[in-house]
Amino acid sequence: MRLFRLLALAVVGTVLAQDTFDDRQVDSDDSFDVTRGSDRHNKTRTGPHPNASSEPTILKCIEIRELTRLINIANNATRLNRTTHGDATKAAAIKAEASKAAPTLNDLKGNSTLVASCQQFFAHEDMVERCVRMHYYERLEKLAANATLLDHKFHGDAARISAVKAEATADASKLSRLSSNATLTQFCAARRDHARCLELEKLQKEVDKAQNATSTRGGAGADKTHKGQAEASSAAARLDALKSNTTLVNYCNSHRE
Ligand SMILES: *[C@@H]1O[C@H](CO)[C@@H](O)[C@H](O)[C@H]1NC(C)=O
Ligand SMILES: *[C@@H]1O[C@H](CO)[C@@H](O)[C@H](O)[C@H]1NC(C)=O
Ligand SMILES: *[C@@H]1O[C@H](CO)[C@@H](O)[C@H](O)[C@H]1NC(C)=O
Ligand SMILES: *[C@@H]1O[C@H](CO)[C@@H](O)[C@H](O)[C@H]1NC(C)=O
Ligand SMILES: *[C@@H]1O[C@H](CO)[C@@H](O)[C@H](O)[C@H]1NC(C)=O
Ligand SMILES: *[C@@H]1O[C@H](CO)[C@@H](O)[C@H](O)[C@H]1NC(C)=O
Ligand SMILES: *[C@@H]1O[C@H](CO)[C@@H](O)[C@H](O)[C@H]1NC(C)=O
Ligand SMILES: *[C@@H]1O[C@H](CO)[C@@H](O)[C@H](O)[C@H]1NC(C)=O
Ligand SMILES: *[C@@H]1O[C@H](CO)[C@@H](O)[C@H](O)[C@H]1NC(C)=O
Repeated sequence: MRLFRLLALAVVGTVLAQDTFDDRQVDSDDSFDVTRGSDRHNKTRTGPHPNASSEPTILKCIEIRELTRLINIANNATRLNRTTHGDATKAAAIKAEASKAAPTLNDLKGNSTLVASCQQFFAHEDMVERCVRMHYYERLEKLAANATLLDHKFHGDAARISAVKAEATADASKLSRLSSNATLTQFCAARRDHARCLELEKLQKEVDKAQNATSTRGGAGADKTHKGQAEASSAAARLDALKSNTTLVNYCNSHRE
């Protein structure tokens, strides 16, 4: 479980990255920053930790993925051309970077413990990314089916409304593919519950703090600004809403660390 907590942290910011370990291309556009690639590569060579084995596992996994991606792009003329928009100089630079990266990647992949951990990491990241996509398609579908909400959101702009409806229709099969996978939906539900428990805890602290400040002598320390009071009362309302769900409260109580 510890690994997974670390993984959850690393996932932030890379959630929408489309590449997976074996560099399967989903809808990716091969946007690859040559400069960043070189910097990264330089850093592994000359940075404060010249020996890659001293880096945390997750950073090494991310490096494996980026180096794999770099090398795969360099070795595929179509992708290389697309990435560089046909610029031969840039293409040559990527190829040079890729050949420098190859031995580093080989070293990393020579560690079977690392490779196994990274496979776990990438599988987890891949699921998180699919949760995010599924949630997006779900919201889109709900929006497209709600004429009142559509009208309100797009101020009656018929063109934009029909564009949203068309997008929802186009994405319907993607949604059903994702939501028919029980492993995935269970994973996403557990993630969502966990996030709600964290939110509940945070709100409870906020509300306690605000009440505490109000109840001290003369209310010293209470945030009496309009904004502060509005925030405190919206936190309290959200907290009440969460706490009114006993399933959630029970779940949080039984999963407290
Ligand atoms: C990488 O490091 C080499 C040697 O230190 C340096 O000459 C080169 O300019 C660096 N490349 C980048 C992109 O920083
Ligand atoms: C560097 O990494 C290698 C394995 O790749 C290891 O055998 C060696 O002990 C490490 N050296 C240091 C100084 O950490
Ligand atoms: C292999 O990778 C694991 C996980 O990152 C690491 O703990 C271990 O030190 C590595 N072994 C070598 C020989 O580099
Ligand atoms: C090269 O990339 C293109 C576009 O991503 C892909 O369709 C093709 O299968 C790749 N070719 C090889 C040999 O991997
Ligand atoms: C490479 O990309 C450029 C611009 O994106 C395009 O005009 C050209 O036809 C491509 N060449 C090949 C061989 O795909
Ligand atoms: C449509 O959206 C409105 C505004 O958010 C909401 O009040 C209503 O319950 C929704 N209708 C349906 C059928 O979900
Ligand atoms: C369902 O999701 C799991 C977890 O990501 C995955 O391993 C599995 O291959 C998926 N099943 C199907 C039928 O896509
Ligand atoms: C409530 O106020 C007391 C005294 O100022 C303080 O010691 C305590 O930590 C506060 N509790 C919370 C939840 O902020
Ligand atoms: C209550 O919480 C559970 C667990 O998070 C969730 O599955 C359920 O949909 C929630 N019920 C309502 C009415 O929000």
